[in-house]
Order: sequence, then C-alpha cells, then structure tokens
Amino acid sequence: MNGNIQIVKGHILFTKSPEAFTIIENGYIVVEGPCIQYVGESLPIEYEDYHITDYGDTLIIPGFVDTHVHGPQYCNRGLGMDMELLPWLNTYTFPEEEKFKDTAYANMVYTSFVNDLVRNGTTRAVIYGTVHLQGTVELMKAVADAKICAYVGKVNMDQNSPEYLLEDSNQSIVDTMQAILVAEQFEPYVRPIITPRFAPTCSGPLMRELGRLAKKYNLPVQSHLSENRGEIDWVAALFPKSKDYTSVYVDYHLIGTQPCIMAHCIHLSDDEIDILAQTNTLVAHCPYSNNNLSSGIAPIRKLLERGVPISLGSDISGGHLTSMARVLTEAIGLSKMKWAEVDKEYKPLTLSEGFYGATRGGGQFFGNVGSFEIGYEFDALVIDDSSLFDMNVRSPLERLERWLYIGDDRQIANRYCRGQQLSI
Ligand code: GUN
Ligand code: FE
Repeated sequence: MNGNIQIVKGHILFTKSPEAFTIIENGYIVVEGPCIQYVGESLPIEYEDYHITDYGDTLIIPGFVDTHVHGPQYCNRGLGMDMELLPWLNTYTFPEEEKFKDTAYANMVYTSFVNDLVRNGTTRAVIYGTVHLQGTVELMKAVADAKICAYVGKVNMDQNSPEYLLEDSNQSIVDTMQAILVAEQFEPYVRPIITPRFAPTCSGPLMRELGRLAKKYNLPVQSHLSENRGEIDWVAALFPKSKDYTSVYVDYHLIGTQPCIMAHCIHLSDDEIDILAQTNTLVAHCPYSNNNLSSGIAPIRKLLERGVPISLGSDISGGHLTSMARVLTEAIGLSKMKWAEVDKEYKPLTLSEGFYGATRGGGQFFGNVGSFEIGYEFDALVIDDSSLFDMNVRSPLERLERWLYIGDDRQIANRYCRGQQLSI
C-alpha cells in the first residue's frame, strides 16, 4: 500500500469547460500526494484496500481561486463605497497601505486576511502586498502558514503617489528582487509575481525594468487595466506615445512576454481586446469592485467570445467580500444587467460559466488547478448543506446552486489544498 494515497467519496461537481458541470453522484476521487489519480463512479480494484474518507451526502467541489485581491486593504472592506476609483484610492486605500511599513501591523492584518480566505474556501489567490518589502514578507509567511497557495507581489509605485508610499525607482527594483529571493523560502505555497500597481503610479523606466525582471526570473505579471474612465484619460495624458492603455503595458513588455493577469478590463476598445486574446492575458473580473466604485460592467460575454481567458477576483477592498461563491453569483448578476440594460447581443453568464471562472478559469494560472481531472492538484471543498432548510429533494447541482447563492463558510465542512487538509 502506498501511504501517500487518499480516497474521498461524495457527490462530485466540477467544470472541465465553462459550458457544463461534470457531476458524479456518490463518486470517488483518488489522490496521490498533491495530485488526482482517478475520478469516477466506482473504485478501481487496485484501491480496494485503502481507507476511504466517506463524506456521505455532501457536495465535493474544487477549491476557489481568487485572481485579484489586495491583502493590505482587508481592514477597509465595506468602507468608502460612495466614491469612484481615484478619490477612493487617495482617501481610503493609500492611507491604509502606509500602515504596512509597520511589520507588526502587517503581521496582524495578513494573518486575519489569509484566515478569512481559507474560511471562505479560497485555496489559491493572486495577492497584492504593498510597496513595503518586510510587510510583503509577512504576507508570504501568512500564506505559507495557512498551507494555501498564492502568488504574492510586492507593489511598485514611483510616481503620482502620496509622498508616504512613493518609492525611489532603483530601490523599488532592488526590493522587488529581494522579494523574489525571499519567496523561495515559502515554496511550494508562495510564488512571486511582478506587480506594477497600475500605469499612472509607475514611470516608464520602472515599468521597463520590471518587464526585464519578469523575463529574467521567468515570472508572471499582474496589474490593473481600464477600470475607470478618469483613469483611462489620465493614462492617455501620461503616456502619449502609447496607442492606448493596453499598449502602455505591451510597450514596456509587461503584457505579451510572460503570463499576465489584468484586473477589470471594463472599457477596452476592440483592438485592445484583440491584444489580450493574442497574448493570452488572463482577465480578473471583479464584479463587486466594479459595482461599488461605479466603474462599469465589464463586457465578459464579449471577452469570452473573442477568446480572452476569464477568471474572477474579490478585489478586496474595492470589493467587500472574500467569498468567491458570492463573487461568482455577483458576476452572473451583473452580466444579466448588461444584457437587460445595455446590449441584448451578449447573453448573461450561466452558472457553469461563473463557477468555471471561480475555479478552473483562475486555476490555469497555477498549472493544473481548479478541476477534478486526472493530474490536477487536489484542491477541494466539502459542502455540508444539510442546515439549509428545504422540504424537497434536490439534485446535487440544485444544492450547489443554492449554496453558492445563500450559503456561507458555515457549510464548508472541510478544505484541501494540494491534497493537504487545511485547518482554520
Ligand atoms: N488601481 C490601482 N490601484 C488599485 C486598487 O488598489 N484597487 C483597485 N480596484 N484599482 C486600483
Ligand atoms: Fe485591485
């Protein structure tokens, strides 16, 4: 017998593609180390002697992936929801991020933040720290202690920022290289990611150097793109040589060279959408944030039809909730409003498309993650929804839909990341 093998049993639901759920009632998943070896209705004979963790009449789904979230904004969630992006950054966000120069403060906030992710079933995340190196190391520690997996980025800002967050351009690069080195200590849980905050707060020379670092260390890149109309006009004025906002990042080799996530992508031209599709740039759609900051409704159906890969982000604290179940149902809701109010050509997102966005859509940034296919890493949530009152018998898919809409962390009976059970 191989001591590295675990077998779980329950009603298994996942999305191999956005179009449909795969549903296996009373099915089995065999996991060896971090990876799935078998998924199916009956247990193959070679596994008969192994212990089975029988989760009975529960739902087993992939762990959630949040591809855009700001750890240092955790204390601000639910505040400042009456402002647009630029005043919101200056009034609420930047003053809070300054506090992360204090490592003890960073430690307290990041520990609670990561615990909230785990509690709500997020097993993978792509996270922004602040400009502070030591503070960002605290974020890496919190992730590794929780045994979830995350890309963690030290943020870069060397212009158009308050004095208290403004970095010297060279020091910004030196600290970024240090953050990349330190992240190695937290493998396999933490991976570094190059994180220019957004074009307005980064000079051309800084972005060029960050593009070089990404290539040299073979690292992915994340930033914000086309979130707010005032922001877009500002970028056009700051970078007159670039054709549009997307081209600013292309011109500095931040889009198109390494794997890349761009948050928001609301007001893009058709040419910009083509660039994202050609460069396989992963969009992090953040519906709560776009709603709260009156940014707009991202054209997700159009992006999907044009071949742009889509994932979902909580964008704490533009968004107010860490729960990716809530984020995915909000994405569906906003897409319905786009269809009803703006353009009947673009159909609303379906439940399976929303679920795919919160699991496999973001999981692809981590490799084989976000699904229960053979060779995928076993990140899973066990949902015991028996406390959600109903007099009727429901199918596993109906039960999942209801839990996504009205459930919360109290129904998450167990969590796994890379085959390891997580504690909260
Ligand atoms: N653009 C630049 N910084 C931020 C941020 O912290 N949150 C959001 N939503 N947009 C940004
Ligand atoms: Fe953001």
